[in-house]
Amino acid sequence: MEFKTERDSGVDSWKEVILVYTSALKEIGTKLEILNDEFQHVHRYNPIEHIKSRIKTPESIVKKLKKYGYESTIENMVQYVNDIAGIRVICSFTSDIYRIAEMIGRQNDIRILSVKDYIKNPKPSGYKSYHMIVTVPIFLSDRIVDAKVEIQIRTVAMDFWASLEHKIHYKFEGNAPDYIKEELVKCARLVSDLDARMLMLNEEVQSLSGQMNNE
Ligand code: GTP
Ligand code: MG
Repeated sequence: MEFKTERDSGVDSWKEVILVYTSALKEIGTKLEILNDEFQHVHRYNPIEHIKSRIKTPESIVKKLKKYGYESTIENMVQYVNDIAGIRVICSFTSDIYRIAEMIGRQNDIRILSVKDYIKNPKPSGYKSYHMIVTVPIFLSDRIVDAKVEIQIRTVAMDFWASLEHKIHYKFEGNAPDYIKEELVKCARLVSDLDARMLMLNEEVQSLSGQMNNE
């Protein structure tokens, strides 16, 4: 376990844990903003469209622990729930996703615990996104604790698809009719096609403007 609370359980240590995860979101959020600003400065271009972050609700934390078969304790939540702090980074192009992931991974205070590339290996639902679980050190008054953050990086189009799929999943409690699931898989293919064509278009325009600047 990365971090131990002084007080074993109860509201105080719950508050402390949430404070640490909230701080972790701030740290990662700032790192991403710095990368985006620097990219704008050097390359005149923003790889990040926008960033959303959230702390998992106590209800969802308890639900997840139950699903895994663990008791609802603070120790278990810190050890087994990897997405208490979640940050979603929305990019314009697929290439930006890998660029951001690499830049974050290279920072030496960040430790990568796991990576799931659902862009190279989409889920059967059609879901695409790049996931990283990382830890970031949080400097408290008397100690340093490593806090886990789930970073999801995806394009605007992937995000559009995932939001609708999530709503449908929720509405049907995970049992959507087959024809709807099939339609979602088809839409996911259209999303991939759109992402690939928009990337090509952007590269074409960039190379043309590069030529024009050299003339
Ligand atoms: P969870 O228990 O759902 O967190 O799954 P996991 O621990 O196996 O991790 P995974 O990387 O598969 O998923 C983590 C998160 O990615 C989820 O909480 C969702 O936010 C998102 N996600 C994963 N699969 C899907 C999907 O099929 N559709 C949508 N809309 N989101 C998904
Ligand atoms: Mg999750």
